[in-house]
Amino acid sequence: MAYNEFAYFYDSFNEDADYEALYRHVKGQLDAHGITDGILADLGCGTGELTLMLAQAGYDMIAIDQSEEMLCVVRDKADQLELTGRLLLLQQDLCDLDLYGTIRGAVSTFDTFNHLPELDKAIANAAFFMEKGGVLLFDMNTPYKHREVLGNNTFTFAADEADCVWKNHLEEDGRKVRIALDVHDHETGERFHEEFCEYTYPLDQIRASLERHGFTLESVCDGETFGPLTDTSERYFFCAVKNYTQLEGEQNG
Ligand SMILES: C[S@@+](CC[C@H](N)C(=O)[O-])C[C@H]1O[C@@H](n2cnc3c(N)ncnc32)[C@H](O)[C@@H]1O
Repeated sequence: MAYNEFAYFYDSFNEDADYEALYRHVKGQLDAHGITDGILADLGCGTGELTLMLAQAGYDMIAIDQSEEMLCVVRDKADQLELTGRLLLLQQDLCDLDLYGTIRGAVSTFDTFNHLPELDKAIANAAFFMEKGGVLLFDMNTPYKHREVLGNNTFTFAADEADCVWKNHLEEDGRKVRIALDVHDHETGERFHEEFCEYTYPLDQIRASLERHGFTLESVCDGETFGPLTDTSERYFFCAVKNYTQLEGEQNG
Protein backbone atom coordinates (compact mmCIF):
# COMPACT_ATOMS: atom_id res chain seq x y z
CA MET A 1 0.00 0.00 0.00
CA ALA A 2 1.38 3.40 -0.94
CA TYR A 3 0.37 6.98 -1.58
CA ASN A 4 -0.27 7.57 2.09
CA GLU A 5 1.58 10.69 3.38
CA PHE A 6 2.99 11.05 -0.15
CA ALA A 7 -0.57 11.96 -1.25
CA TYR A 8 -0.24 15.37 0.40
CA PHE A 9 2.88 16.20 -1.66
CA TYR A 10 1.85 14.51 -4.91
CA ASP A 11 0.70 17.72 -6.62
CA SER A 12 3.85 19.63 -5.67
CA PHE A 13 6.14 16.94 -7.06
CA ASN A 14 3.92 16.53 -10.14
CA GLU A 15 3.88 20.23 -10.99
CA ASP A 16 5.24 19.71 -14.51
CA ALA A 17 2.47 17.30 -15.46
CA ASP A 18 0.29 18.81 -18.17
CA TYR A 19 -3.23 17.97 -17.00
CA GLU A 20 -4.67 20.61 -19.35
CA ALA A 21 -3.35 18.73 -22.38
CA LEU A 22 -4.49 15.43 -20.88
CA TYR A 23 -7.96 16.86 -20.24
CA ARG A 24 -8.21 18.22 -23.81
CA HIS A 25 -7.33 14.81 -25.24
CA VAL A 26 -9.73 12.95 -22.93
CA LYS A 27 -12.57 15.39 -23.55
CA GLY A 28 -11.98 15.21 -27.30
CA GLN A 29 -12.25 11.41 -27.19
CA LEU A 30 -15.40 11.51 -25.04
CA ASP A 31 -17.05 14.04 -27.36
CA ALA A 32 -16.05 12.02 -30.41
CA HIS A 33 -17.92 9.06 -28.90
CA GLY A 34 -21.00 11.16 -28.08
CA ILE A 35 -20.34 11.06 -24.33
CA THR A 36 -21.02 14.64 -23.33
CA ASP A 37 -22.67 14.00 -19.97
CA GLY A 38 -23.55 11.16 -17.59
CA ILE A 39 -21.50 9.13 -15.14
CA LEU A 40 -17.75 8.59 -15.56
CA ALA A 41 -15.39 6.75 -13.25
CA ASP A 42 -11.84 7.90 -12.58
CA LEU A 43 -10.01 4.67 -11.78
CA GLY A 44 -7.16 5.49 -9.39
CA CYS A 45 -8.03 9.18 -9.32
CA GLY A 46 -5.10 10.25 -7.13
CA THR A 47 -5.49 13.88 -6.09
CA GLY A 48 -8.31 14.32 -8.62
CA GLU A 49 -6.77 16.83 -11.03
CA LEU A 50 -8.46 15.24 -14.05
CA THR A 51 -11.54 14.14 -12.08
CA LEU A 52 -12.35 17.71 -11.14
CA MET A 53 -11.79 19.06 -14.65
CA LEU A 54 -14.30 16.49 -15.91
CA ALA A 55 -16.73 17.39 -13.11
CA GLN A 56 -16.40 21.04 -14.15
CA ALA A 57 -17.24 20.00 -17.71
CA GLY A 58 -20.56 18.60 -16.42
CA TYR A 59 -19.87 14.88 -15.90
CA ASP A 60 -20.95 13.12 -12.70
CA MET A 61 -17.70 11.67 -11.45
CA ILE A 62 -17.01 8.58 -9.37
CA ALA A 63 -13.50 9.10 -8.01
CA ILE A 64 -12.03 5.76 -6.98
CA ASP A 65 -8.75 5.20 -5.23
CA GLN A 66 -7.45 2.76 -2.65
CA SER A 67 -5.62 5.54 -0.81
CA GLU A 68 -7.72 7.31 1.80
CA GLU A 69 -5.23 10.18 1.84
CA MET A 70 -5.56 10.73 -1.91
CA LEU A 71 -9.35 10.84 -1.55
CA CYS A 72 -9.04 13.39 1.29
CA VAL A 73 -7.07 15.65 -1.05
CA VAL A 74 -9.75 15.26 -3.75
CA ARG A 75 -12.50 16.08 -1.25
CA ASP A 76 -10.74 19.25 -0.09
CA LYS A 77 -10.20 20.45 -3.66
CA ALA A 78 -13.82 19.64 -4.59
CA ASP A 79 -15.03 21.61 -1.56
CA GLN A 80 -13.03 24.64 -2.66
CA LEU A 81 -14.38 24.40 -6.20
CA GLU A 82 -17.94 23.73 -4.94
CA LEU A 83 -18.03 20.54 -6.98
CA THR A 84 -18.97 18.01 -4.29
CA GLY A 85 -22.45 17.63 -5.83
CA ARG A 86 -20.87 16.14 -8.95
CA LEU A 87 -18.59 13.77 -7.11
CA LEU A 88 -18.80 10.39 -5.41
CA LEU A 89 -15.62 9.29 -3.63
CA LEU A 90 -15.00 5.56 -3.30
CA GLN A 91 -12.12 3.93 -1.49
CA GLN A 92 -11.72 0.69 -3.40
CA ASP A 93 -9.14 -1.58 -4.96
CA LEU A 94 -9.60 -1.52 -8.76
CA CYS A 95 -9.09 -5.29 -8.78
CA ASP A 96 -12.24 -5.66 -6.61
CA LEU A 97 -14.27 -2.83 -8.07
CA ASP A 98 -17.93 -2.71 -7.06
CA LEU A 99 -20.08 0.16 -8.32
CA TYR A 100 -23.74 0.88 -7.69
CA GLY A 101 -24.74 1.05 -11.35
CA THR A 102 -23.39 1.42 -14.85
CA ILE A 103 -20.99 4.04 -16.20
CA ARG A 104 -20.77 5.72 -19.61
CA GLY A 105 -17.02 5.79 -19.52
CA ALA A 106 -13.91 5.55 -17.39
CA VAL A 107 -10.55 7.24 -17.29
CA SER A 108 -7.35 6.08 -15.64
CA THR A 109 -4.30 8.27 -15.97
CA PHE A 110 -0.69 8.82 -14.98
CA ASP A 111 0.19 5.16 -14.96
CA THR A 112 -2.36 3.96 -12.41
CA PHE A 113 -2.83 0.70 -14.34
CA ASN A 114 0.92 -0.02 -14.05
CA HIS A 115 0.38 -0.22 -10.30
CA LEU A 116 -1.88 -3.26 -10.67
CA PRO A 117 -0.40 -6.75 -10.41
CA GLU A 118 -3.54 -8.08 -12.13
CA LEU A 119 -4.38 -5.63 -14.89
CA ASP A 120 -6.74 -8.15 -16.49
CA LYS A 121 -8.95 -8.12 -13.38
CA ALA A 122 -9.22 -4.32 -13.38
CA ILE A 123 -10.14 -4.31 -17.09
CA ALA A 124 -12.75 -7.04 -16.47
CA ASN A 125 -14.25 -4.97 -13.66
CA ALA A 126 -14.33 -1.78 -15.74
CA ALA A 127 -16.02 -3.78 -18.53
CA PHE A 128 -18.60 -5.22 -16.13
CA PHE A 129 -19.96 -1.78 -15.24
CA MET A 130 -19.50 -0.12 -18.65
CA GLU A 131 -22.49 0.59 -20.88
CA LYS A 132 -22.46 -0.55 -24.51
CA GLY A 133 -20.61 2.10 -26.57
CA GLY A 134 -18.87 3.36 -23.42
CA VAL A 135 -15.18 4.22 -23.56
CA LEU A 136 -12.23 3.29 -21.40
CA LEU A 137 -9.51 5.94 -21.75
CA PHE A 138 -6.26 5.16 -19.99
CA ASP A 139 -2.52 5.59 -20.14
CA MET A 140 0.31 3.31 -19.10
CA ASN A 141 4.07 3.52 -18.93
CA THR A 142 5.67 1.58 -21.78
CA PRO A 143 8.13 -1.30 -21.31
CA TYR A 144 10.70 1.10 -22.88
CA LYS A 145 10.23 3.57 -20.01
CA HIS A 146 10.56 0.88 -17.37
CA ARG A 147 13.68 -0.52 -18.98
CA GLU A 148 15.49 2.60 -20.18
CA VAL A 149 14.22 5.49 -18.07
CA LEU A 150 13.21 4.18 -14.64
CA GLY A 151 15.58 1.19 -14.77
CA ASN A 152 17.78 1.21 -11.71
CA ASN A 153 17.94 4.98 -11.61
CA THR A 154 17.35 7.38 -8.74
CA PHE A 155 15.63 10.75 -9.18
CA THR A 156 15.25 13.65 -6.82
CA PHE A 157 12.39 16.14 -6.71
CA ALA A 158 12.50 19.38 -4.81
CA ALA A 159 9.51 21.51 -3.95
CA ASP A 160 9.07 24.34 -1.44
CA GLU A 161 7.17 22.08 0.99
CA ALA A 162 9.32 18.96 0.70
CA ASP A 163 11.89 17.04 -1.24
CA CYS A 164 11.76 13.47 -2.42
CA VAL A 165 14.27 10.81 -3.41
CA TRP A 166 12.68 8.35 -5.86
CA LYS A 167 14.70 5.14 -6.17
CA ASN A 168 13.90 2.53 -8.84
CA HIS A 169 14.92 -1.09 -9.00
CA LEU A 170 14.16 -3.00 -12.20
CA GLU A 171 13.60 -6.70 -11.45
CA GLU A 172 15.88 -9.00 -13.41
CA ASP A 173 13.03 -10.55 -15.41
CA GLY A 174 12.03 -7.02 -16.50
CA ARG A 175 8.43 -7.49 -15.36
CA LYS A 176 8.29 -4.88 -12.65
CA VAL A 177 10.06 -1.88 -11.19
CA ARG A 178 10.24 -1.60 -7.41
CA ILE A 179 9.99 2.02 -6.30
CA ALA A 180 11.07 3.41 -2.94
CA LEU A 181 10.25 6.99 -1.99
CA ASP A 182 11.88 8.99 0.80
CA VAL A 183 10.17 12.27 1.49
CA HIS A 184 11.39 15.04 3.78
CA ASP A 185 8.67 17.45 4.87
CA HIS A 186 10.35 20.86 5.21
CA GLU A 187 7.62 22.32 7.38
CA THR A 188 7.44 19.65 10.10
CA GLY A 189 10.89 18.14 9.59
CA GLU A 190 9.27 14.68 9.34
CA ARG A 191 10.70 12.03 7.05
CA PHE A 192 8.74 9.13 5.68
CA HIS A 193 9.28 6.16 3.42
CA GLU A 194 6.89 4.44 1.01
CA GLU A 195 7.31 1.54 -1.39
CA PHE A 196 5.30 0.25 -4.32
CA CYS A 197 5.75 -1.46 -7.67
CA GLU A 198 4.99 -0.63 -11.25
CA TYR A 199 4.25 -3.69 -13.36
CA THR A 200 5.35 -3.87 -17.00
CA TYR A 201 2.70 -4.79 -19.56
CA PRO A 202 3.51 -5.20 -23.25
CA LEU A 203 1.06 -3.76 -25.76
CA ASP A 204 -0.10 -7.19 -27.03
CA GLN A 205 -1.03 -8.27 -23.52
CA ILE A 206 -3.05 -5.09 -22.92
CA ARG A 207 -4.86 -5.45 -26.24
CA ALA A 208 -5.66 -9.13 -25.54
CA SER A 209 -7.03 -8.25 -22.13
CA LEU A 210 -9.27 -5.51 -23.56
CA GLU A 211 -10.61 -7.83 -26.26
CA ARG A 212 -11.22 -10.66 -23.77
CA HIS A 213 -13.53 -8.38 -21.82
CA GLY A 214 -15.55 -6.98 -24.71
CA PHE A 215 -13.60 -3.87 -25.65
CA THR A 216 -12.29 -2.94 -29.08
CA LEU A 217 -8.98 -1.12 -28.90
CA GLU A 218 -9.82 1.77 -31.17
CA SER A 219 -6.56 3.69 -30.88
CA VAL A 220 -3.29 3.81 -29.05
CA CYS A 221 -1.05 6.86 -29.26
CA ASP A 222 1.86 8.43 -27.41
CA GLY A 223 0.56 9.39 -23.97
CA GLU A 224 2.67 12.55 -23.76
CA THR A 225 2.43 14.09 -27.23
CA PHE A 226 -0.88 12.39 -28.17
CA GLY A 227 0.74 11.88 -31.58
CA PRO A 228 1.88 8.60 -33.12
CA LEU A 229 3.71 6.03 -30.99
CA THR A 230 7.47 5.79 -31.51
CA ASP A 231 10.09 3.30 -30.33
CA THR A 232 10.95 5.71 -27.52
CA SER A 233 7.43 6.60 -26.38
CA GLU A 234 7.41 6.51 -22.60
CA ARG A 235 3.67 6.35 -22.19
CA TYR A 236 0.82 4.77 -24.16
CA PHE A 237 -2.62 6.34 -24.29
CA PHE A 238 -5.46 3.93 -25.10
CA CYS A 239 -9.03 4.46 -26.26
CA ALA A 240 -11.12 1.29 -26.01
CA VAL A 241 -14.84 1.01 -26.77
CA LYS A 242 -17.20 -1.46 -25.09
CA ASN A 243 -18.95 -3.62 -27.69
CA TYR A 244 -21.88 -5.04 -25.78
CA THR A 245 -23.89 -4.76 -22.58
CA GLN A 246 -23.05 -7.05 -19.69
CA LEU A 247 -26.29 -8.96 -20.30
CA GLU A 248 -25.49 -9.47 -24.01
CA GLY A 249 -22.02 -10.66 -22.98
CA GLU A 250 -23.47 -13.21 -20.56
CA GLN A 251 -26.04 -14.45 -23.13
CA ASN A 252 -23.34 -14.97 -25.73
CA GLY A 253 -21.25 -16.93 -23.23
C1 LIG B 1 0.46 7.72 -10.15
S1 LIG B 1 -1.03 7.98 -9.27
C2 LIG B 1 -2.09 8.64 -10.57
C3 LIG B 1 -3.21 9.47 -10.01
C4 LIG B 1 -4.14 10.16 -11.01
N1 LIG B 1 -4.82 9.23 -11.87
C5 LIG B 1 -3.44 11.21 -11.83
O1 LIG B 1 -3.71 11.28 -13.04
O2 LIG B 1 -2.69 12.01 -11.28
C6 LIG B 1 -1.63 6.33 -9.08
C7 LIG B 1 -2.87 6.23 -8.20
O3 LIG B 1 -3.39 4.91 -8.27
C8 LIG B 1 -3.83 4.51 -6.99
N2 LIG B 1 -3.83 3.05 -6.95
C9 LIG B 1 -2.76 2.23 -7.06
N3 LIG B 1 -3.14 0.94 -7.01
C10 LIG B 1 -4.50 0.96 -6.85
C11 LIG B 1 -5.49 -0.06 -6.72
N4 LIG B 1 -5.16 -1.35 -6.74
N5 LIG B 1 -6.78 0.31 -6.57
C12 LIG B 1 -7.13 1.63 -6.53
N6 LIG B 1 -6.23 2.63 -6.65
C13 LIG B 1 -4.93 2.31 -6.81
C14 LIG B 1 -2.83 5.15 -6.05
O4 LIG B 1 -3.33 5.25 -4.73
C15 LIG B 1 -2.61 6.50 -6.72
O5 LIG B 1 -3.51 7.47 -6.25
